[in-house]
Amino acid sequence: MSKEKEKRDSVVDPNGDALEMSLETNLRPQNLKQFIGQAKLKENLSVFMRASKERKEALDHCLFCSPPGLGKTTLAHIIAKEMGTSLRQTSGPILARVGDLAAILTSLNEGDVFFIDEIHRLNRAVEEALYPAMEDFELDIVVGQGPSAKTIKLPLPRFTLVGATTRTGLLTSPLRDRFGIVSYLEFYEPDELAQIVFRSSEILKVKIEPEAAREISSRSRGTPRISNRLLRRVRDFAQIEGGPITLEIAKKALLALGVDAVGLDQMDRKILLAMIDKFGGGPVGLDTLAVAVSEESQTVEDVYEPFLIKAGFIARTPRGRVVMPLAFDHFRRKTPAQIKKEPSLFDDSLKSS
Ligand SMILES: Nc1ncnc2c1ncn2[C@@H]1O[C@H](COP(=O)(O)OP(=O)(O)OP(=O)(O)O)[C@@H](O)[C@H]1O
Ligand SMILES: [Mg+2]
Repeated sequence: MSKEKEKRDSVVDPNGDALEMSLETNLRPQNLKQFIGQAKLKENLSVFMRASKERKEALDHCLFCSPPGLGKTTLAHIIAKEMGTSLRQTSGPILARVGDLAAILTSLNEGDVFFIDEIHRLNRAVEEALYPAMEDFELDIVVGQGPSAKTIKLPLPRFTLVGATTRTGLLTSPLRDRFGIVSYLEFYEPDELAQIVFRSSEILKVKIEPEAAREISSRSRGTPRISNRLLRRVRDFAQIEGGPITLEIAKKALLALGVDAVGLDQMDRKILLAMIDKFGGGPVGLDTLAVAVSEESQTVEDVYEPFLIKAGFIARTPRGRVVMPLAFDHFRRKTPAQIKKEPSLFDDSLKSS
């Protein structure tokens, strides 16, 4: 697992370890019906899957884009299950050589799902080898060296490539254009997260009161992985108290975990307060901000920023990141006059870049 990924997986719980990972696997929905929320995406995907099953063809290649923990890997597994095929999984940084790609592709069966996580991190050579594989289901292999080198075309079974990325902007357009199905996963609504919390608590065999489920879900940064992680930690508190998860226990546990009333964690607060206290609310550049909070720029951009933007705490402008009035209110600070005065300055059009 790459460094950033390890970091992302421990957004709330810095001790996220192998046990956490296996617990996450247990809670993972197994089919589309169990997959909560993302209604439009699910509806489309189920039509595409049914149609290709009827035609007895492999599903078209799918690309899933979203911030971490919203369900991309889960969807890749669900596609393989629903299509009745197997899944082979790798990730951009691991798939370093064309030979590795060839080894996987030639071992696939007709209709299999080949899942590449962090697909924006593929190197050039591998990415280029992937083009004919996706388009014509053949692989160009160079045999020999120098003037006698020859390219041979290796036929491949018809497979479905599922790519996942947290950084759509980093994907080259030739690669993006070869996906027939491109879907963006949105942050979840508290109601949807509450359903996920209920489902997970059933699997974990812990009783939870509805108000407690709502409390956890409204403080999960719109992210199922965080809901599940908070639920597991809150469960520990309930277990010590020897009863179900009540609202009171949930609140106490969330306070102890450093998750505030709107779901911001310690790093979220560190980022916002640095922007307010050190940079007068901005605009501040990403790299400068990352240094100020001792975090990697990419982690700030991929893990923290999307939710802070979605929730209206910060905005991206052509001149850098700025803090929005909501964040000043949240920390009971006075919004500087120029931020109050010029909301039009905060151009949201850069949001998805
Ligand atoms: N729609 C959903 N319904 C129920 N549970 C979900 C849903 N989406 C995600 N989850 C839960 O959240 C966890 C994280 O999801 P997943 O691993 O698929 O995220 P991801 O988008 O691949 O994240 P990353 O970018 O970090 O790889 C899953 O183990 C699953 O339990
Ligand atoms: Mg994933």
